[in-house]
Amino acid sequence: MGKGIFVTGTGTDIGKTYVTALIVKKLADAGIHTGYYKAALSGAKSIGDSDAGYVKKIAGITQEDTSLLSYLYQNAVSPHLAAQIEGNPVDPEKIKKDFDKVKSKFDYVTVEGSGGIVCPIRWDKEHKILLEDIVKALNLNTLVIADAGLGTINAVVLTIEYIRNHGMGVKGVILNHYVGGIMQEDNARMIEELTGIPVIAKVKDGDGELAIDIEKLKKIYN
Ligand SMILES: Nc1ncnc2c1ncn2[C@@H]1O[C@H](COP(=O)(O)OP(=O)(O)O)[C@@H](O)[C@H]1O
Ligand SMILES: [Mg+2]
Repeated sequence: MGKGIFVTGTGTDIGKTYVTALIVKKLADAGIHTGYYKAALSGAKSIGDSDAGYVKKIAGITQEDTSLLSYLYQNAVSPHLAAQIEGNPVDPEKIKKDFDKVKSKFDYVTVEGSGGIVCPIRWDKEHKILLEDIVKALNLNTLVIADAGLGTINAVVLTIEYIRNHGMGVKGVILNHYVGGIMQEDNARMIEELTGIPVIAKVKDGDGELAIDIEKLKKIYN
C-alpha cells in the first residue's frame, strides 16, 4: 500500500492544483511511482480539462484518467450544491474504494481537496458529509497551500486551528505566489512560530519545478 497526503488550502483558487502538479512532478521526476486522486470536482466538462487532467499533464504521469477522480460535476459550485442540482451525490464508500485502489497501485499518492478545509461534499437527507470526513476516512494528514502575501497569517492560522480541532493532522504549509521581501519572509516565519508547522516550500508565479529536497517532501506522506 502506498502513502498519501491530502492537499488543502486557505481557500479556492489559492493554487492547490498548480502546486499539486509540481509536487507530483517532483516525485515522478525522481523516479518514484506516484499517483493523484481527487474525490469530487466541480466546474469541469471532462476529466481531461479538470484539475486532475492538468496535474496528469504537468507531472507527466500515465495513470489512467478514470482513476484520478471519483465525481465530476459541471456546475462550478461546491460539490454538495452541484449534486443537489445535477444528482449523483457522493457515496463515501465509493471514495474509500477508489482511493484504496489508487493507493494499491502507487507508492506516493497526492490527494487534492475541493475548496478550502471547510467544504460540504454532500448535504441531503441521507448524508451530511464535509471534506474533513473524507480526510479522516482516508486516514490522511494535510498539507496547506496558502498565498504568500498580506492576510496569510490569519488565513493559515485559522485553517490549521480548524484542522487540528477537527481531529486531523497537518504536515506542512506551502506559500504560493511568493515574491519574497520583508513582509512575505515574515509571514513564513510567523506562520511557523504561531502554528509550529514548517513552511516546506515557496512557489513563485510561473514556477515549473518545486524547490524542495525530495526526502523532505517524501516525509510528509504517511
Ligand atoms: N504559482 C503560480 N504561477 C502561475 N499561475 C498560478 C500559480 N498558482 C496558481 N496559479 C493559477 O491560478 C489559478 C488558480 O489556481 P488553482 O491551482 O487552480 O487553484 P485551486 O486548485 O486552489 O482552486 C489557476 O489559473 C492557476 O493556473
Ligand atoms: Mg484545484
